[in-house]
Amino acid sequence: MYKFKIKGKARKLKGTISASGSKNAGLPIMAATLLAAGNYTINNVPDIIDIRTMAELLSILGSKVEFKNHELKIHTDSCTCYEAPYDLVKRMRASIYVLGPLVARYGKARVSFPGGCALGARPINLHLEGLQKLGTNIEIEHGYINADTKKLHSNEIIFEQRSVGATANILMASVLADGTTIIRNAACEPEINALAVFLIQMGAKIEGIGTDCLTVNGIQTLHSANVSLIPDRIETGTLLLAAAITKGEITVKNCCPSDLSMVLEKLREIGFSVNVNNDSITISGKGKNPIEISTNPYPAFPTDLQAPFASLLSTIKGKSIIDENIFSDRFMYISELQRLGADIKLDKNRIVIHGGNQLTGAPLMASDIRAAAALVIAALASEGETEISRIYHLDRGYERLENKLAQLGADIERIEDN
Ligand code: UD1
Repeated sequence: MYKFKIKGKARKLKGTISASGSKNAGLPIMAATLLAAGNYTINNVPDIIDIRTMAELLSILGSKVEFKNHELKIHTDSCTCYEAPYDLVKRMRASIYVLGPLVARYGKARVSFPGGCALGARPINLHLEGLQKLGTNIEIEHGYINADTKKLHSNEIIFEQRSVGATANILMASVLADGTTIIRNAACEPEINALAVFLIQMGAKIEGIGTDCLTVNGIQTLHSANVSLIPDRIETGTLLLAAAITKGEITVKNCCPSDLSMVLEKLREIGFSVNVNNDSITISGKGKNPIEISTNPYPAFPTDLQAPFASLLSTIKGKSIIDENIFSDRFMYISELQRLGADIKLDKNRIVIHGGNQLTGAPLMASDIRAAAALVIAALASEGETEISRIYHLDRGYERLENKLAQLGADIERIEDN
């Protein structure tokens, strides 16, 4: 086990850094390779724990997976198994992404039912109801979802709530269903668009990409395809926030500025200077204005940057407010920021931050991927030394974040945690 040791305050981040490929685009695309026998190459894949967990799951399902130098080669000719075991699903909820593809290809799947998680209740009813509407029988038994169908058929699916995961699962299942499926109130996150584009490369017929209504004309079989992953917008945002909190000046290259429009708008509102090019973003200047943020589905403000923004806003004088509208309990990091001296109060799904206190280093503990990122950002602005344990949470979603920050001038070390 490792922890981070960070010496903050004195160092302004400076320089240029590349964004990695997107975790949340990579995971469903990897699952989609189960839809058809063949050979797939996926490039620009971040070397992070969640990608390795999905690779392990695909191997258990019979795929041959090689991963080196950010390139994944997946061979799905010899897939025979259709069971996603508890051990993997409990490590990563996104394992549920194999459910739709397995049912579509084999007519059956057995996937461990994901339990609760650090973000509060995270039901999968929308995934299951959607699959039932496409003609799947579903039973929950001994902690597993047993799904089977003679043949998936089309339907109109109207999601009660926008869900990235349910949209991805139903999209992957419907490409092989008989007839025309319409998915309404679909998530339109860039990662869903990336999945849809990949499915089209596999031969699927999908219209409405980028909107909340997807129309899928089912076909009989798909074929293999190759893809390079889109940049990770959440990692990009995290790097920009790390620079912002140190009042530094950095450029993130190989990123997609338009995927971060709302985030960049908020940074400008705080007072930072943010300049974008085709595939790069430069941030500089100082923040001085407290702001209000409301997380909501894309293109609104992303919940995955809620915690990192709370760190930044703790250092901006005045009263900022954040409303978390996606997850019921995504505030576990607050008590850790309070240990650094941040003045944050929680009221239901709202936090009120009275920013401007000088943060001071302390031992901290990470509770999920983005909470870990928030603690790292706060530590960069804290006087003295901060140690952050349980950074395996961070490693699930960020490839060697400490190396990227060190390249930009941060004093950060990964050390053994005994
Ligand atoms: C994905 C992202 C995660 C991000 C989240 C919201 C991946 C691997 N993870 O998670 O980083 O924070 O989108 O942008 O891409 N819900 C239900 N029933 C369901 C499914 C979801 O009630 O069947 C609820 C959830 O509890 C939550 C909301 O819908 O309140 C949105 O969740 P969803 O978009 O599904 O998140 P994930 O796909 O799990």
